[in-house]
Amino acid sequence: MEVPLLDLKAQYAKIKDEVLAAVSEVLESQRCIGGPKVAELEEKIAAISDCRFAVGVSSGTDAILNCLMSLDIGPGDEVITTPFTFFATAGCIARVGARPVFVDIDPETLNINPELIEPAVTEKTKAIIPVHLFGQMADMDPIMEVTDKYGLAVIEDAAQSITATYKGRKAGSIGTAGCLSFFPSKNLGGIGDGGMIVTNDETLAERMRIMRDHGQQPRYYYHYIGGNFRLDAIQAAALLIKLPLLDKWSQARRDNASYYNEKFKGSVIQTPSIRPDCVSIFNQYCIRVPKRDEVVKHLHDKGIGCAIYYPIPLHMNECFGYLGYKQGAFPESEKAAGEIMALPIYPELTDQMKDYVAGTVLSFLD
Ligand SMILES: Cc1ncc(COP(=O)(O)O)c(C=O)c1O
Repeated sequence: MEVPLLDLKAQYAKIKDEVLAAVSEVLESQRCIGGPKVAELEEKIAAISDCRFAVGVSSGTDAILNCLMSLDIGPGDEVITTPFTFFATAGCIARVGARPVFVDIDPETLNINPELIEPAVTEKTKAIIPVHLFGQMADMDPIMEVTDKYGLAVIEDAAQSITATYKGRKAGSIGTAGCLSFFPSKNLGGIGDGGMIVTNDETLAERMRIMRDHGQQPRYYYHYIGGNFRLDAIQAAALLIKLPLLDKWSQARRDNASYYNEKFKGSVIQTPSIRPDCVSIFNQYCIRVPKRDEVVKHLHDKGIGCAIYYPIPLHMNECFGYLGYKQGAFPESEKAAGEIMALPIYPELTDQMKDYVAGTVLSFLD
């Protein structure tokens, strides 16, 4: 049996006619950037995120970049985040000329450890980017306590966690702004790159709209040095077809996670730890195992897709060498990077596929 890590063809097969019709409508209109489809998607994503405003952008990366630019964060500033995340989180901080300041993760949830944030705050700190990793939100209450105390902005990196909740509150609705990604592998994935910023701050939302269009308002009157961060209408059209299915898909992922959890009970496999006050959308199902690289190889040999998110914590990457962090600086992130692996969790998995995946991992580790 073959079980891919993700099977987007299986998803597409069920919605092909609607997606093609929606894309065709955009092509017929030749309104290819922005326009009514983008506005409709913004309204709907704001609503499901319990936020007043949403600003469609070209990717999750550009959502973070736009936030930092719109908050005037730049050279001389520091932004605190986790080293156990996708590159874009810290990459954007560095791209605006600010300094990424890493603090270690909570080994249970793999999200930023709030207790370590306050000691990292300096005169230069302007913002914190908590990342809601793999579909579960970071522990926002203690994070907001610190940011309120020091007057810092909070950019929630919710690229992997659209509609996830923390104490009943939606991803992106707690901080200054939240960044979503519509990269195809996300729970709500487009047919190419796309992203969105959600916020309750009207002034900031307006600035982000101007910033995504080179900083101009009206055309050729430039207020800021912005960029081309606009969302394509074709992406919005496809996402509007998929949006009504998002909750069902996220629930199927949660059900798959419970299925695996049950299978792995009592074994050496460490299953994802979801806080009782959080609802995860399981963009990834990541286990921690001994002999991880051997397990990954064995699964690949058996036709099972799996991946390592993330093999090298960001502070150990060459491009961040200038920050001066050494091995051992963030022991929990480094340990997790050596043990973690993601199993197939996509909604279309059958019980037979899950049994095969779980059985193959278990028999190898026995
Ligand atoms: C945590 C995190 N932040 C940011 C991004 C960037 O999103 P995009 O790929 O849409 O640019 C991703 C996407 O992979 C992500 O997982």
